Amino acid sequence: MNFDHIPQAVEPSKVPVRVLYTGAKIPAIGLGTFGSDRFSAEQVAQAVGEALAAGYRHIDCAAVYGNEKQIGQVLQYYFRSGRLKRSELWITSKLWNDMHQRVEEACRRSLEDLGLEYLDLYLVHWPFPNYHPPGCDVHSRSPDAKPYIHDNYMKTWRQMERLVERGLVRHIGTSNMTIPKLKLLLRDARIRPVCNQMELHPHFQQPELFAFCVEHGIVPVGYCPLGSPARPERDRTPEDTVVLDDPVLREIAARRSTTVAAVCIRWAIQRGQIPIPFSLHHYADNLRAAVSEPLSEDEMERIRRIDKNCRLIKGQVFLWKPNQSWEDLWDPTGEITPP
Ligand SMILES: NC(=O)c1ccc[n+]([C@@H]2O[C@H](COP(=O)([O-])OP(=O)(O)OC[C@H]3O[C@@H](n4cnc5c(N)ncnc54)[C@H](OP(=O)(O)O)[C@@H]3O)[C@@H](O)[C@H]2O)c1
Repeated sequence: MNFDHIPQAVEPSKVPVRVLYTGAKIPAIGLGTFGSDRFSAEQVAQAVGEALAAGYRHIDCAAVYGNEKQIGQVLQYYFRSGRLKRSELWITSKLWNDMHQRVEEACRRSLEDLGLEYLDLYLVHWPFPNYHPPGCDVHSRSPDAKPYIHDNYMKTWRQMERLVERGLVRHIGTSNMTIPKLKLLLRDARIRPVCNQMELHPHFQQPELFAFCVEHGIVPVGYCPLGSPARPERDRTPEDTVVLDDPVLREIAARRSTTVAAVCIRWAIQRGQIPIPFSLHHYADNLRAAVSEPLSEDEMERIRRIDKNCRLIKGQVFLWKPNQSWEDLWDPTGEITPP
């Protein structure tokens, strides 16, 4: 294993950071590690190794991505060779849906696979505790699928809080939450979430949830920041729009002599969310975009206006009863969808 041939794209200290309510600093861009069922664990781990050489210091992992062991080997290479210290990195992992009742066991497994003594951030990946096999079809339903039950979520959250108290993780956060669910969590949490990971790109800006998070000191972490062009077939519908083909983004990119992807990254950081683009081939460009010239107010406003409310990751597999639509998972009325 050797990444010495990879040139540094950006000096890590130049990459912007966001300050969490705890005072901790998190790099304002991370590398996603979900290989979209297309790339092997080894390929994703190789990208992590190269991205670290290029200057990334924030890696977004999850147990369900099936590659934490391989990523762990890359991290060990960096630590053992003295190229990086643990304290220089921000490593996130996520609790998968079938482990909501066994949080510490799941966290310890991720720690062991990644070869770490602590995680910087541990997220509840989805608010639904439903198991479904990795890679299953969107029409697949778990026979014991459950709706969101706040008491159960709080039982999971209490276990998340204990991880902080035991020093296994430094921060805890949520993912795929809605405003009504977050309101209940903020009411009942002893340790508030520092981040909410959510789908965020120019065609799905989630302005209300974004503003709610910011107002409550929760940093929005944006997944699919480029519109996830390589997402699995099961996550595609005919109505989905293509962010990288957007004419307004294309025009802004052309004027800046850059790419639409770079505009998406720059927009995300400037708006205040942390993009976590996945990339085997463009990670250096994306890191450079994070430190590129700011977009003008007019460009930011033009991008604000291209929001198409187009959710790409709909979560159909979590539906818990027949004849529901995927929108029900996202509490469209502003109240938690009744069981
Ligand atoms: N919490 C959740 O439920 C959740 C859900 C989905 C995703 N996530 C996280 O978010 C991460 C990112 O989401 P994602 O992977 O679905 O979507 P994404 O980051 O929007 O898109 C990744 C795709 O874009 C391509 N790409 C990257 N940079 C590019 C550039 N500069 N120019 C052109 N193409 C570029 C990549 O191709 P190359 O490999 O060829 O560069 C890859 O195919 C995931 O990896 C995962 O860590 C979390």
